[in-house]
This record gives sequence, structure tokens and C-alpha cells, in this order.
Amino acid sequence: MRFKNKTVFITGAAGGIGRQTGISFAKEGASVALSDLDLDMATRVADEINSSGGDAKAYKLDVTNQSETVKVMQDAFETFGSLDVAFCNAGIREITPAIDIAIEDWRKIIDINVTGVFITAQTFARHCVKQKKSGNIVITASTLGISAGNSRCAYTTSKHATVGMTKQLAMDLAQYDLRVNAVGPGVIRTPLTERYFQDEETSTKIKNLHAMKRWGEPSEISNAVMFLASDEASFCTGTTLIVDGGWTAGKEF
Ligand SMILES: NC(=O)c1ccc[n+]([C@@H]2O[C@H](COP(=O)([O-])OP(=O)(O)OC[C@H]3O[C@@H](n4cnc5c(N)ncnc54)[C@H](O)[C@@H]3O)[C@@H](O)[C@H]2O)c1
Repeated sequence: MRFKNKTVFITGAAGGIGRQTGISFAKEGASVALSDLDLDMATRVADEINSSGGDAKAYKLDVTNQSETVKVMQDAFETFGSLDVAFCNAGIREITPAIDIAIEDWRKIIDINVTGVFITAQTFARHCVKQKKSGNIVITASTLGISAGNSRCAYTTSKHATVGMTKQLAMDLAQYDLRVNAVGPGVIRTPLTERYFQDEETSTKIKNLHAMKRWGEPSEISNAVMFLASDEASFCTGTTLIVDGGWTAGKEF
């Protein structure tokens, strides 16, 4: 029970990686505040955790809304009695050639994937400083935070920004005993990527992108998030842990 008496605040908690991370932290004894734009789905995840003996509460939250974030985090603190980890995970992406992307779509992706992550991290950091408590921030970056793909210019830009933000927040927040790290998933099977798996050709292509010749599962990301948020990672800050089955290790030719 690595996270007994700890509370973890998660954004994008109704999706594939957020849901699994909530479940995994709860299994390790944490109370979990599950926030998402989609309250119904977040509530289902909370019910799943509570019905198996865990302690979870669902919240409706748009991560681009700062005042709402402050309110929801305050409620989570009052409900659970502490806030120890923030998992800044909510994210969206486009699949549109750079030449065609509409500026409104570009702005929306940057707003959620960059500004939304910053709002969550800053709100959590302010809370910890006010409470004079240490804490951990984990950000969901991507392999597209250190490389590029195709037709994902806004997403790739946003994820590179999260890798930089992780380093800068680590520098600014170490004095408050806050560690800040990121996880960089390869292709993980979640609602975000589900349509890749609908045809044989695309799913075979995806397998072959990874040295391990398979895609990843959400639990392989939640394990990395828990490591980064745990005392086992006590000397890690500012780092992005890539979890990609060897996708970025190299290319076959
Ligand atoms: N699945 C992958 O292969 C993969 C790979 C690399 C990185 N990621 C990143 O992992 C994170 C989670 O992705 P996932 O695969 O679980 O996707 P998902 O689509 O299953 O989940 C994302 C969740 O974020 C929520 N969300 C969207 N906009 C929001 C907003 N404005 N405020 C609050 N919540 C919002 C959605 O409702 C959804 O529940 C994202 O940041 C994504 O970029 C995913």
C-alpha cells in the first residue's frame, strides 16, 4: 500500500489512462479525486473504485477553467483531508495535416494540452505551498513530446511544451519540496486511439512501430505514474519517463 493516507487528484480521469491510473492508485491505498469534462464517465469510474472498497469521488472539470479548478481541488482537499499528488493527464489531439488545421482547432489543443496542464499544476502547487506540504506532480506527455508523427502538428507542439514545462516547473518548485515529472506513452489502447485498432492494416503498422511489436496497455502507464509519484523516485524531478515499447529507441530499415 504505497499510497495509504494519500490523495491523488487526476484530470482526464474518465479516459483510458486516467481511469486506469485512478484504479491503480486506489489499489495502492490512495483516495482519488477523479475529474473530467465527462462527469457521467468519471462517476462510473468512481463507482467502480468505491464498490471494490476504495475511496473515490468524481468531479466535472474543464481543465482550461482556472476558477473551476481551484474550486474542485479545494473540495477534494476538504473531502479527503489532504492532496498529495496531481496527475495532469487530460488531453486531446487532431489528425489533420498541418497545412489544413483550422486555427480554432490549434488553439483548442494548445489550451487543453498546455494551458490546462499548467493550470492544474499551478493550482496544486499553490495549494501545497499554502499547506506547507510536499507534493508530486506527474504530467502526461507523449512520445510526440520528443519526436514527431504525421498530421499532428498541434498535438506534437503541445506535448513538446509539456516536456519543457516539466523541466521548468521542477526548477521553480523544488524549493517547496515539490517534484515534477512526466510520463511519455507510446501507443496505448484507449478510447483516444481505439479507431487505430479497427482495421488490421493500421493495427499491424502500429505494432511494428514499437521494437516490442505490440502496443501498450493503460496499466503500463499507470505503473510508471505511480513510480514517479512514489518515494522510490525521490531523486527524480524534471524528467520525462518514456514508456513506449522501444518506439523512440530507433527505426528498423
Ligand atoms: N492513448 C495513447 O496512445 C496516448 C499516447 C501518448 C499520450 N497520451 C496522452 O494521455 C492522456 C490521456 O489519453 P487517453 O489515451 O487516456 O485519452 P482518452 O481520450 O481516453 O481520455 C482523455 C480524457 O480527457 C478528457 N478531457 C478532454 N478535454 C478535457 C478538458 N478540457 N478538461 C477535462 N478533461 C478533458 C476526456 O473527456 C477524456 O475522458 C492525454 O494527455 C493523451 O494525449 C495518450
